[in-house]
Amino acid sequence: MAASARENFGVEEAASEGEPRVLEPGAAPFGNFPHYSRFHPPEQRLRLLPPELLRRLFPQGPQTKPILGLDVGCNSGDLSVALYKHFLALREEETCSDASGELRLLCCDIDPVLVERAEKECPFPDALTFITLDFMNQRRRKALLGSFLSQFGCSVFDIGFCMSITMWIHLNHGDRGLWEFLAHLSSLCRYLLVEPQPWKCYRAAARRLRKLGLHDFDHFHSLAIRGDMASQIVKILTQDHGMELVCCFGNTSWDRSLLLFRARQTTETHLIPESLVEEGKERNRLRFWR
Ligand SMILES: C[S@@+](CC[C@H](N)C(=O)[O-])C[C@H]1O[C@@H](n2cnc3c(N)ncnc32)[C@H](O)[C@@H]1O
Repeated sequence: MAASARENFGVEEAASEGEPRVLEPGAAPFGNFPHYSRFHPPEQRLRLLPPELLRRLFPQGPQTKPILGLDVGCNSGDLSVALYKHFLALREEETCSDASGELRLLCCDIDPVLVERAEKECPFPDALTFITLDFMNQRRRKALLGSFLSQFGCSVFDIGFCMSITMWIHLNHGDRGLWEFLAHLSSLCRYLLVEPQPWKCYRAAARRLRKLGLHDFDHFHSLAIRGDMASQIVKILTQDHGMELVCCFGNTSWDRSLLLFRARQTTETHLIPESLVEEGKERNRLRFWR
């Protein structure tokens, strides 16, 4: 689908043309689309990510404890499972693994129906844990994440995945909400992989709501953080939340960049922060060192 057609159709989170409409009017105010991976397939993101990334970032992982990942806004788990397989280099047909000692993912979503489906369909139940959680609910977030981390004697995750969720937090919680969301994530994760939605998706999401005859998102018109959303998020994470940008892995065909950050106090650094938000070919530009 051409970019303009995608945008007209709602870019973010509208089923592709020809598919039956799966959304009821007013549904998915959080981006909780029931078949999200059909129109934004995991493969688009995975092809940009080096499979060896986690093993390079955390070379000591397997000997000590599993690498701990947090997937925020996991939807029905398709991307979470795909990331797990990708980073463990499991073949497509492999549907079970005994690698839960190597990588464990806590995957959360605000929508209990999606989480239930994710749990039911997950081929790696020992390695991926799905929970219903509104990440903006501080009390529940602390309790649920703390309980998961304490099983491993840890207080933070090695890496957080924040894929195509920033816009929904921003639209539903405003500038302050986005800022706080990024603050929580950066305090919880040593590394953070973020796929921000570009501003055109905000306009499309608002337009879609209007077409459904619904009210605008509460915050849409008052957002001061706008424009180049990837740069805005880089700015917030690096200037306000003590992270540094390690690299951009490139852009998906939906024009979303994949940005890797690390907490500044992280000592085990294995990636040279060579390319910032430059476009395209970043993967070739990554260098690893030991
Ligand atoms: C557009 S989907 C992205 C799904 C997946 N991360 C991906 O990229 O394929 C955004 C997901 O974020 C979830 N979400 C939105 N706000 C949330 C919140 N406050 N806490 C947890 N999940 C949230 C939605 O329910 C939805 O499943």
